[in-house]
Amino acid sequence: MTQARHYLQFTDFDRDDYAYLFARTALIKRKFKNYELHQPLVDRTLAMIFEKHSTRTRLSFEAGMHQLGGAAIYINTRDSQLGRGEPIEDAAQVFSRMVDLVMIRTYGQDIVERFAAHSRVPVINGLTNEFHPCQVLADVFTFIEHRGDIAGRTVAWIGDANNMFYTWLQAAAILGFRVHFAGPPGYGVAMQRDGYPVSAAEAAQLRSFDDPRQACAGVDLVTTDVWTSMGYEAENAARLQAFQGFMVDGALMDAAAPDALFMHCLPAHRGEEVAAEVIDGPRSVVWDEAENRLHVQKALMEFLLLGRLA
Ligand code: CP
Ligand code: NVA
Repeated sequence: MTQARHYLQFTDFDRDDYAYLFARTALIKRKFKNYELHQPLVDRTLAMIFEKHSTRTRLSFEAGMHQLGGAAIYINTRDSQLGRGEPIEDAAQVFSRMVDLVMIRTYGQDIVERFAAHSRVPVINGLTNEFHPCQVLADVFTFIEHRGDIAGRTVAWIGDANNMFYTWLQAAAILGFRVHFAGPPGYGVAMQRDGYPVSAAEAAQLRSFDDPRQACAGVDLVTTDVWTSMGYEAENAARLQAFQGFMVDGALMDAAAPDALFMHCLPAHRGEEVAAEVIDGPRSVVWDEAENRLHVQKALMEFLLLGRLA
């Protein structure tokens, strides 16, 4: 049995793989816009396992697999045996004998890793508490579409040091851009995060600020995310209070470079982490960002199953 290639963290691919993936995404997107069939995955099946809510991830993987000529099956842990304690290792054995590709959205990163270790087929991380690589793949592609190469640029992350933030940091080390972080005391960057410490290469790309205005000064992209991620709902009231002063508003965007973009992986809370004037304003590319989940993941699925194509 050959070892399947997985996409569990942004670090699973190198700079060269990303160059290929972004070029391939551009081609796949162009064909989609021209109503040209692109079906390299006829008769292939993707299983999508969801233990947390989703709109974009489900939609983009399901539509994407269909467009590639294959089929997608949605499985919710609540009404499958996974929700009744079937070991993840057993599930991996069974899934990977019936389908060609598996996407999982769950809590701990260890769950996707254990699944992948027992899977014959590629496994994709569709968001864990620790990372959200498919989203940052779409975000970087969106930046490149609007502004060209991201190498040498600076991205400001305002708010919670969450799964999205740590994935941006991994991308920064691989693709060669800087990350400015600003968040309230007690919610800063954890360099020794349980099991997933920030690497020396990632730390070298990072600068932390107390003042979000300073973090945004002159940057090429400002991005943020919800203050309470899925799984942390019990902390919502405390977080709402702690993050006051860290909303991305017009004043913060004005501190950034004149052509700076705004991104948010969505869903967003207007009036909390972002002001309506920013997310609905001219510098926001959030709808392109959401759409690009479709295109990058089609390139990703093709790459994992077929490797590099001419
Ligand atoms: N951004 C993102 O992953 O959205 P969903 O939670 O709707 O899938
Ligand atoms: N950080 C958010 C992202 C949602 C797409 C969460 O994990 O809930």
